[in-house]
Amino acid sequence: MVSVTAARLDRRRMPPLVERRFPLHLEPKFVSIRSLYEAAKKGRWDPERNIPWAKFDRGAYAKDALAAAALSWSRRAWTEYGGMPETPAILIRICLEHNGESDPKMFLTVRGTEEAWHVECCWRFAELAGGYRQAPANPAYAELFNQGFHRKAFDPSVIVDAYIAAHVAVQDGIDLELYRSHLRHATDPVAGAILKRLVQDKERHVTFGWVYLAERAKEWTPAVRAEIVGEIEHVIADLELAGYHCAWLVPGDAAAEIVAADEATRAAGLGASSVAEETAVLKQWFAEARAAFAGLGLEPRGFEHPRLGRV
Ligand SMILES: [Fe+2]
Repeated sequence: MVSVTAARLDRRRMPPLVERRFPLHLEPKFVSIRSLYEAAKKGRWDPERNIPWAKFDRGAYAKDALAAAALSWSRRAWTEYGGMPETPAILIRICLEHNGESDPKMFLTVRGTEEAWHVECCWRFAELAGGYRQAPANPAYAELFNQGFHRKAFDPSVIVDAYIAAHVAVQDGIDLELYRSHLRHATDPVAGAILKRLVQDKERHVTFGWVYLAERAKEWTPAVRAEIVGEIEHVIADLELAGYHCAWLVPGDAAAEIVAADEATRAAGLGASSVAEETAVLKQWFAEARAAFAGLGLEPRGFEHPRLGRV
């Protein structure tokens, strides 16, 4: 790890990134990423028009279920919010460092808009269910959300490919599979409509990550691969297994209130998954992601968590 640290320090000492605009290369280069951009344009939606808000029937649910859903969906807004500063930060970084291709830049521009819609929907559904919660009650749990992903995306010592592998392929990948599970178990028409839209957007976001990595993998040296693996291991150990997406992985009982809320939200069909369902989702994600990473020459270490077991 010494050489990785030295490389990072070296990059930090380099002059600030400068724009080299020309030539622009607006023609498609990464055709698969350009087609994700085209799909995103076609899939454009509007939370106001496309979610049947008026169909929400408060009377159909017990008071406790509504309070639980308000909390589950507030927590979702807390993580979705992270995508708003993060996406433009990656976009700026790619604009300044990779002046050869426009496809990832065009795709990320649309993704940034979609992130705003995700935040809006989660916040609005929490309000509808009983009231959006401004912040986690437990300060230790709240700290987990203060990751400042934009800072890391901007940090010249972290190579863009490592950022995309860890934060898009891993973190957005886990997020997508959890949302697919929430969608499978949602019976409420409004929660279901929101989850369906979010899953469709997130499928593109995650595909972007893997396609981008596959395009870039040919250029990786062993040192670059070691850095990417280091970043992947960091987000798994310090964020995902610390409960960034799954509250039941948070150490101790700092997020117990969220875990209880998610169970009740799931039982009412208001758009969440049980601990058992999330456990199955994570185990499958780890198995599939490990195979996909191996195909790119990346082999992150195994992990052990008292509540999840070995992944
Ligand atoms: Fe999002």
